[in-house]
Amino acid sequence: MSTVAGGAGLDVSNLVTRYGTVLAVNDVSFHVAPGEFVSLLGPSGCGKTTTLRCIAGFERPDQGRISIDGETVTDAETGEFTPPNRRHFGMVFQSYAIWPHMSVMDNVAYPLRVRGGLSRPAVRERTLQALTTVGLGGFESRFPTQLSGGQQQRVALARALVMEPRLLLFDEPLSNLDAKLRERMRFELIEIQSALGIPAVYVTHDQAEAMVMSSRVIVMERGEIAQEGSPEQIYARPRTRFVADFIGLSNFLDAEIVEAAEAGQWRCRSVLGAHRCRGSGDHHPGQRVVLAIRPERIELGQEPFPEGDGFRATVQGRYFLGPYVEYFLELGEQRLRVQRRSSLSVPLGGQVHARVHAEDCQIVASDGAPSA
Ligand SMILES: Nc1ncnc2c1ncn2[C@@H]1O[C@H](COP(=O)(O)OP(=O)(O)O)[C@@H](O)[C@H]1O
Ligand SMILES: [Mg+2]
Repeated sequence: MSTVAGGAGLDVSNLVTRYGTVLAVNDVSFHVAPGEFVSLLGPSGCGKTTTLRCIAGFERPDQGRISIDGETVTDAETGEFTPPNRRHFGMVFQSYAIWPHMSVMDNVAYPLRVRGGLSRPAVRERTLQALTTVGLGGFESRFPTQLSGGQQQRVALARALVMEPRLLLFDEPLSNLDAKLRERMRFELIEIQSALGIPAVYVTHDQAEAMVMSSRVIVMERGEIAQEGSPEQIYARPRTRFVADFIGLSNFLDAEIVEAAEAGQWRCRSVLGAHRCRGSGDHHPGQRVVLAIRPERIELGQEPFPEGDGFRATVQGRYFLGPYVEYFLELGEQRLRVQRRSSLSVPLGGQVHARVHAEDCQIVASDGAPSA
């Protein structure tokens, strides 16, 4: 049944899945190292769940291979296929999929009982241990209706953990929780996962969730991997307009390349004037490009900058949000969104001085083709 493929951890190679004419997953490959927490992030319909279902063994891909710790569990070419219950993966869904008529104990113990081979006291002990791990010690006699949404989701997690899985698979597990709990559960989940050291693949359409929880984020777009990297890399160096737009907020500016500057920088012209931008792709003078600038990377001042750089813009809107103030600036036709920690005493309709460093002015590919 198993052959050696890849190394320690999860290997997904050249996965392709079609539903009729829909190409749900198109040549997706990635690796998850032992203990690593990796997110698949992207808008609805981009192929996240399909990818996860292929890993779990609920779906047979048209092409590709999946292996865990060198053991092949799916190979479309040779037809090798390990059924889901023999993969020893734990899965947690958005709908908690716990049984309302069973106690917490019975819900969590269920997979152990189905598998068999353990004495009743051993099942009980393992179940109680899993409940303690997720912070539900003492809840074993309750029924799901007597639990909050967050507690129900913890029951689902305990049920995934009780089998001592070698991989954890999450499909939008926090999406049904209210905003505050959802935010807190991110940290709890990641603490449990890292304490146990079980590698995890986490599917979400929530960019903040992916950024907070993962050591690596895989951004998907229309069945393909758009970009992969640490949260910091993806945020600071988006390769495409899609990635810059999906993760955090970005201003997009049309610009024209003037000439190459020092390593990785270009002189360009945009509504901001003549300035520099960053991009490691191959560009040429006269080329039209799109620049992405994060709102918090734009400096504002009431006086001209002493270095003599920057541009002037009109304050069109100002909104106080607590941790920062959101400005809408206008330069001709261009609107710029800026987030600053402090407020300026400039009236609406007044002028401010603004500037952005070349490092924060990133050339992005507009058509989905990587440019940097
Ligand atoms: N069982 C199915 N039958 C037909 N089309 C499907 C099925 N499951 C998913 N799809 C389609 O495949 C694409 C990817 O879906 P999915 O993997 O569920 O995306 P995500 O989880 O990122 O929202 C979508 O276009 C979806 O409509
Ligand atoms: Mg999905």
